Amino acid sequence: MKRILTIVGARPQFIKAAPVSLALQEAGFECLSVHTGQHYDENMSAVFYDQLNMTKPTHQLAIGSGSHGWQTGEGLKAIEEILISEKPDAVLVYGDTNATIAGALAAVKLHIPVAHVEAGLRSFNRRMPEEINRVVTDHVSTWLYTPTQTATDHLANEGMSQGVLWVGDVMLDAVDQFGPLAEQQCAGLLDELELGAKQYWLMTMHRAESTDQPEQVKTILTTLDSLGTPILFPVHPRIKAMVESFGPYRHIRLTDPMGYFEMLMAERHASLIVTDSGGVQKEAVFANVPCVTMRTETEWTETVQAGWNQIVGLDANKLVVAIEQADSLAKEPIRHHYGNGAASQTIARHLSEALDHAAQQKPATETGVTVPV
Ligand code: UD1
Ligand code: UDP
Repeated sequence: MKRILTIVGARPQFIKAAPVSLALQEAGFECLSVHTGQHYDENMSAVFYDQLNMTKPTHQLAIGSGSHGWQTGEGLKAIEEILISEKPDAVLVYGDTNATIAGALAAVKLHIPVAHVEAGLRSFNRRMPEEINRVVTDHVSTWLYTPTQTATDHLANEGMSQGVLWVGDVMLDAVDQFGPLAEQQCAGLLDELELGAKQYWLMTMHRAESTDQPEQVKTILTTLDSLGTPILFPVHPRIKAMVESFGPYRHIRLTDPMGYFEMLMAERHASLIVTDSGGVQKEAVFANVPCVTMRTETEWTETVQAGWNQIVGLDANKLVVAIEQADSLAKEPIRHHYGNGAASQTIARHLSEALDHAAQQKPATETGVTVPV
């Protein structure tokens, strides 16, 4: 049986791993996983395992919060030990967090092939920690599963075409797979929140680039609060103290981070989404809700080209203009850029064939993990 070890650590990775792990199990893989503990609050981690019916991690680390070097280094050390003892045939990493780069580096140095889901994304902003993580991870990966053709093109421009496969976006798989369950289980959400469908905006904010600029964040929040529309804002722990310190607000409703099902419902029923999240930008568009992105660039350029998403940075004036014109911008269908909702099955099929092929190529004496002496 082919043995695959998945590495996750942060909120969006649990969501991405849910459909892929299921597809791998259905394809007959033996699935192991490591949760680095980068995110650890109940509503940043356990809630996703429960809602998405995920198998508990084989190895639960408790690395927690810290600087980039420390968090990545702790992950690297701990994952290396696990890989030496578990000897998987391949390691699967997602996206661009510190768990991603730690897992990819640990594996490649043990000569274990790395499969990178969500490969090829680029912001071309090297001050973003995620950009460093994704560039390095792509360059050490054997199989690079891209969510969009744009991502495949970025890899080609960096000289990578071998092992690159456009599969579509596993976050679209997750929306398709779990959307109906979310509808069932969270039917009463708007009543509980006392919000009317299409009568409110949804907001999220968590990027380091935002929290590093408190004055701009304050101006944005006071501006949004003055516009009169109710705004639902589930607050990421990174920015909680800052957001609370700028309150109280009249129209912005702060909540704890929400479960995935609640979030999908909150997105679907919002009339507009304002965010700096990568995943939320696309989920807005999958739900046919216009989005305004509080960043200076996006990796998901198709959303902008198709008229669904506007990039405004942390500029309150640009934000207000974008909100005013969001409904009137011409919008084109976009879902096809992100695949057919079966990216996970394509990954499982390809990995299975690729590992069979690799096993045939391997000299009879080679047994898997190579531990340096
Ligand atoms: C990380 C990822 C980012 C991703 C985001 C998803 C990196 C470099 N960044 O950013 O790409 O978009 O996750 O949400 O990996 N904290 C808690 N409880 C938790 C988790 C975090 O209180 O369960 C607080 C801690 O104060 C911590 C801070 O949030 O220092 C930031 O957490 P961290 O994981 O370092 O970065 P994120 O901003 O979450
Ligand atoms: N999300 C969630 N609850 C929240 C905020 C976000 O379930 O309170 C989900 C969201 O629906 C999306 C993912 O988390 O699937 C996005 O994660 P995040 O914004 O933390 O990170 P990014 O995508 O920017 O890396």
